[in-house]
Amino acid sequence: MSKPLPIAVLVSGTGTNLQALLDSVHGHEAQVVAVASGAPGALALERAAAHGVPTAVFERAVYADREARDGAMAGWLVERGARLVVLAGYMELLTFVFLERFPGAVINVHPSLLPAFPGLHAIKQALAYGVKVFGVTVHFVDAGVDSGAVISQQALELPDAREPDEVLQALRPLEHALLPGAVRLVARGALGIDPNNPRRVTVAPASVEAP
Ligand code: GRF
Repeated sequence: MSKPLPIAVLVSGTGTNLQALLDSVHGHEAQVVAVASGAPGALALERAAAHGVPTAVFERAVYADREARDGAMAGWLVERGARLVVLAGYMELLTFVFLERFPGAVINVHPSLLPAFPGLHAIKQALAYGVKVFGVTVHFVDAGVDSGAVISQQALELPDAREPDEVLQALRPLEHALLPGAVRLVARGALGIDPNNPRRVTVAPASVEAP
């Protein structure tokens, strides 16, 4: 197998998606070389430390503006050798200052079938709308809110769901499979962009080894 892809993970909260990455691709197709957050108390940071992964906190209040914070954070991730940045429950928007350091190399997991319900309250909004099918999207990150090209999606029928937490718990296993799956695709260089439609991500089939 080729060398693991060095990845960084940005987190803000409990870090179950980070845990899924640590338990699946870490040390195999990918190596988590850095975990960063804007939130000092994030449980996700403890999960990283428990795996011996270096962590750092870049609190917005410490910097003059978001750009200054993003520049410092991107600089640290570049220093750590990250080649892909994975947003795993990172609840802040990244500025151009960050994105230009990792062109085409930032991905995010979102708990809806985009373009439906972008933003911070996806599950609540889907419930309020009365949808019967929920889902998860992994997508490239651009400067907009959950607006980058879609890498993978999975739907889940929950016609009787009433509570956001019930939906979140049901979507968790989908997120925890889809996000590592997308990292694997990046690691094997399988993702491309359709020359006729820059919104369409192409996936090269896995090569089949001769018996
Ligand atoms: C996930 O539902 C993810 O889709 C959203 O934030 C949540 C993060 O959960 N962007 P966790 O911190 O990975 O447990």
